[in-house]
Amino acid sequence: MSNNLLQGKKGIIFGALDDMSIAWKVAERAHEEGAEIILTNAPVALRMGKIADLGEKLGAEVVPADATNMDDLNALLDRAEAQFGKIDFVLHSIGMSLNVRKKRVYTDLNYDWYHKSLDISALSFHRMIQTLYERDLMNEWGSIVGLSYIAAQRTFSKYNDMAEAKALLESIARSFGYHYGKKRQVRVNTISQSPTPTTAGSGVKDFDQMLKFAELGSPLGNATADECADYTIMMFSDYTRKVTMQNLFHDGGFSSMGISEELLDAFRETQHPKS
Ligand code: NAI
Repeated sequence: MSNNLLQGKKGIIFGALDDMSIAWKVAERAHEEGAEIILTNAPVALRMGKIADLGEKLGAEVVPADATNMDDLNALLDRAEAQFGKIDFVLHSIGMSLNVRKKRVYTDLNYDWYHKSLDISALSFHRMIQTLYERDLMNEWGSIVGLSYIAAQRTFSKYNDMAEAKALLESIARSFGYHYGKKRQVRVNTISQSPTPTTAGSGVKDFDQMLKFAELGSPLGNATADECADYTIMMFSDYTRKVTMQNLFHDGGFSSMGISEELLDAFRETQHPKS
């Protein structure tokens, strides 16, 4: 259902890999709401993923850019500037840890990979915003959103070095939110999303159990990727112009819960199995 919430707006969406990706759903919803978008992802993802199909479906240009590479980011913004002039919204939907991928546990991290996790999953947010800021490419009252996870605040034993990446990501939103707010009234926020079955999500060890735990611990249940897209669209719209420098939980209530009846029941079942 479209309400033309983004009519006339232009944006860049980082991180659509396949139709499970949160960024994929955001791109579809942004298009539905009247926005014009450019899609981008790392060159390797362009080769392996299905983003070209999405670009075709939405009539959106797909521009390769490794989010850790300043030349790539500048080339991407050259394309965006040529096509749109200034930009109204940007989604950073990027996460990757080689320690997670190669199953290194938190107490035995490879530090080169740790650097990479922080660079790809968090510093890229700063690089992206700084490049926009220096080139003055955002319209006034524009909106920048990054996607985060509650492991930034609390310990989730299997989330590994991505916990620090998310803590850094959220801090960058606060720090740059100040500077961009002063300069152009641009808002910068992170959305802290429920566990969601995607390529990045499923890479985390015991992801299915984490998903189930969060489901049982959330009064409204886990938020889906489609619901995350709806929330992100609202953050890009003019209805949230004074929301900035926030980490916004989009998790069915999980972040305010201690224990629920459903978790107690599941725990009871492990102690006294029925049959
Ligand atoms: P996804 O695997 O579909 O998306 C991750 C994207 O990051 C991919 O498109 C990948 O190509 C891109 N990427 C990796 N390295 C890159 C680089 N160097 N340059 C540019 N792009 C690069 O998975 P998902 O779940 O849609 O992830 C999107 C965001 O949502 C991530 O920040 C993730 O941490 C966050 N998130 C995911 C949750 C989940 O349970 N799936 C929960 C909370 C947050």
